[in-house]
Amino acid sequence: MTHSFNYFVDKIDKVITSTKFDQEPDTLFEPIEYILSLGGKRVRPILTLMAQNLYTDNFDEAIKCAMGIEVFHNFTLLHDDLMDKSDMRRGKPTVHKKWDANTAILSGDAMLIEAYKYVSGVSVDILPEVLSLFSKTAMEVCIGQQHDMDFEKRTDVSVDEYLEMIRLKTAVLIGCSLKMGAITARTSSDDGDNLYRFGINLGLAFQLKDDLLDVYGDTSKFGKKIGGDIINNKKTYLLIKAFEESNEAQKKELSEWTQKTEFDNNEKISAVKSIYDKLNIHSITDELIKKYYLAALESLNRVGVDEDKKQELSKLAHTLMHREH
Ligand code: IPE
Ligand code: IPE
Ligand code: MG
Ligand code: MG
Ligand code: MG
Repeated sequence: MTHSFNYFVDKIDKVITSTKFDQEPDTLFEPIEYILSLGGKRVRPILTLMAQNLYTDNFDEAIKCAMGIEVFHNFTLLHDDLMDKSDMRRGKPTVHKKWDANTAILSGDAMLIEAYKYVSGVSVDILPEVLSLFSKTAMEVCIGQQHDMDFEKRTDVSVDEYLEMIRLKTAVLIGCSLKMGAITARTSSDDGDNLYRFGINLGLAFQLKDDLLDVYGDTSKFGKKIGGDIINNKKTYLLIKAFEESNEAQKKELSEWTQKTEFDNNEKISAVKSIYDKLNIHSITDELIKKYYLAALESLNRVGVDEDKKQELSKLAHTLMHREH
């Protein structure tokens, strides 16, 4: 039978809360339990289980991949928050704020190892494929993350470079989540590939939406501080489009803000945001989100199972496009 989103959230949360990382020393394992206990949307593991659920409702193997992917995702957040100097995540202090930078580094490393332990728990017939997809994805995430950091220092990042960067840092893990479900279901490689494409398009829309919420979201719902990307000169679609659409005076103002080394954070955020507002950047970004959302649905359409079985996946895609956190 086809299960709902809420069924899967419960399932993942039960597994996470019943998993004890209570080895010694606490200073290594407590931060892991902390970040995992703060929730989050659990989008990636749910996608794995939903992909599996297109074919069967035996989740024994899929849950191992789902957990591995969620622990991996949370590991990337520990390091990402350190790299992005972010103090808040899921409405709570980030690990490097609650503890320190060294803790975020080593607990993160330990989580990467835990993630591999989870995905390695699948049967031997699919183990090579699972490990090869997981390793390829994990390396791509690192490459995307490094591009994201390198782009902070550049002023000539194109939309295409941005899209490739977010494909790597975000979309491939979402594609991987779906494809893992296809692999554990032992379905055709065509279905696996179409589910992967669905994930890539969904992931591109997902990161664009994250970039949009970083400027236009509400901290109490988003759980992260608004304006972090502006402070860090992240080359988001919003900033790249603003440079493209702006007149000479606005271009000069944007350049000055991105070159300043000393500034009041709120002043910079509101100055850049007011240029975005004048240039309609919010709706320009919404358009691109919609484009990838529709492309995602098209890929999902090509997956060779009955329409009604795919309802939960298309509903989830829709919810993600309209999310506030
Ligand atoms: C945050 O991911 C990192 C991005 C790729 C934007 P999520 O938005 O899935 O974060 P949680 O897990 O729900 O907190
Ligand atoms: C995160 O991108 C991508 C990762 C691979 C972690 P962001 O830096 O935009 O994620 P948030 O906004 O901090 O969650
Ligand atoms: Mg980042
Ligand atoms: Mg970040
Ligand atoms: Mg972000």
